[in-house]
Amino acid sequence: MIKIAPSILSADFANLAREAAEVRDAGADWLHFDVMDGSFVPNISIGLPVLKSLRRATDMFIDVHLMVSQPRAYAARFCDAGADMVTVHVEADEPADILRALREIHAHGKKAGLAIKPATPASIVLPFLDELDLVLVMTVEPGFGGQSLQRDTLTKMRGVRALIDQYRPGCELEVDGGVNAVTAPLVVDSGARVLVAGNAIFGKSDRRAAIEEIRMAADIIA
Ligand code: DX5
Ligand code: ZN
Repeated sequence: MIKIAPSILSADFANLAREAAEVRDAGADWLHFDVMDGSFVPNISIGLPVLKSLRRATDMFIDVHLMVSQPRAYAARFCDAGADMVTVHVEADEPADILRALREIHAHGKKAGLAIKPATPASIVLPFLDELDLVLVMTVEPGFGGQSLQRDTLTKMRGVRALIDQYRPGCELEVDGGVNAVTAPLVVDSGARVLVAGNAIFGKSDRRAAIEEIRMAADIIA
């Protein structure tokens, strides 16, 4: 079963509650919430106050993607602000502090994920797998919506899928960056089961049609 997670980075921030309700009614499974700090990535997006407001406005599963340096300092606060899942980047700190961040997320009763950038190898997730509910494979450089999927990340995604199947079945594999109806079959064929899509959903006026188009394309392979 494929999950579709619209990224609100491409939504209308002046009408977030309405945007969330629209994609929920259109069949989306999760809401993907991109946090950027202007340090780990060259862009700044949204943070804790917006998450708190959105939490009050929707009962959807909120999947928080922390693109921030030293995420341990903030992970628990995002849990308390209403995240259902918090994903940190493996490149954002020393391994021991990443592990501590994952454990703190679990200690706050939320699901924990680990994200890897396009150039980061699959094997880096191995020492963290026991603590993971999700691995997020970035198929673009994090920081901006609307980029094209880098196809050379798909081989690495297959590697992540193989590690999950061998050592942590049940862990989700999420893909983020350039997912649309054309690339959905490629990422599903490479092992992804949670598909983040920003531009391909919020960039279209008919969100239901956009989600159905991605789901149908993904189902060809799944
Ligand atoms: C990029 C973000 C993505 C982004 C995806 O750094 O992590 O979640 O919103 O946008 P699209 O689907 O437009 O590539
Ligand atoms: Zn994201």
